[in-house]
Amino acid sequence: MFNNGHVISIREFTKQEIDYVLECAEELEPYAKRKKCDILAGKILANLFYEPSTRTRLSFETAMKRLGGEVINMYAIEASSVAKGENLADTVRTVSSYSDVIALRHPQEGAARMAASFSTVPVINAGDGAGQHPTQTLLDLYTIKREGLLDNLRIAIIGDLKYGRTVHSLAYALSLYGAKLYFVSPPTLRIPDEIRTDLKVAGAELHECDDVREVISEVDVLYVTRIQKERFPDPAEYNKVAGTYRITPELIAENRNVVVMHPLPRVDEIDAGIDRTENAKYFLQAFYGVPVRMAILYILLRKED
Ligand code: NCD
Repeated sequence: MFNNGHVISIREFTKQEIDYVLECAEELEPYAKRKKCDILAGKILANLFYEPSTRTRLSFETAMKRLGGEVINMYAIEASSVAKGENLADTVRTVSSYSDVIALRHPQEGAARMAASFSTVPVINAGDGAGQHPTQTLLDLYTIKREGLLDNLRIAIIGDLKYGRTVHSLAYALSLYGAKLYFVSPPTLRIPDEIRTDLKVAGAELHECDDVREVISEVDVLYVTRIQKERFPDPAEYNKVAGTYRITPELIAENRNVVVMHPLPRVDEIDAGIDRTENAKYFLQAFYGVPVRMAILYILLRKED
């Protein structure tokens, strides 16, 4: 399970391993809200965040605390030695001597894998550039499972398929479950060729189009994503695609049962009118980050003892 005790890419998980994480999360869910337990008492999670985060960092912190563990944080990089020019390897060498597990978010693709090679404790990839975001995928799958939709799923993945790391991880994982994938994006934000090829080799059934109206009546889930403005080399390219798609109540009316998900943060891609509907699951999805990250921390640290 997991790559030598690290969580770097969802591609290193088998379907059985993913199922195991989801089952653990279900067992831990009662402790994610009201109760608390002490199964990780004495353990320390270090949050190393080199990019902005709200849900990922805070749900990791909540997860660790609900399990009785403690958390140290490095999130304002301007207040740390990174601002003095320290490289990631030295920071990780040091922080792994202070902690039992590290959650790392970094703008460079491959950073988590590199960090794992310098760390003496498990490293969890909390997002590496446009690469992967495996723990987000696990909570996305958990949300889909709790909606009773994981088998024979038909899902439209909408938005920035080029730079969106949540999309890259999720598409790989869904290929293990035989999901039908509908990729919906402006032409310049299509899924990268190598990922498309890998998905096809894995036997995934995928369709691509520009407009969600073409597929709304054929899917169970709309997985909407933000255009990843910070990853565009040229701001003019971002301006060309900004605001080009939006999920509205009128669209949802064409498929009353459709589940709307989003890893958040959203900018303008989901109309606030959706929030009040039964279709909106994105805040519940954000809550599920707690039991799912509890499960991951529990599995990693329990293994160590
Ligand atoms: C996502 C991320 O950081 O990749 N956010 C998250 O972790 N929930 C999506 C995004 O930033 O758009």
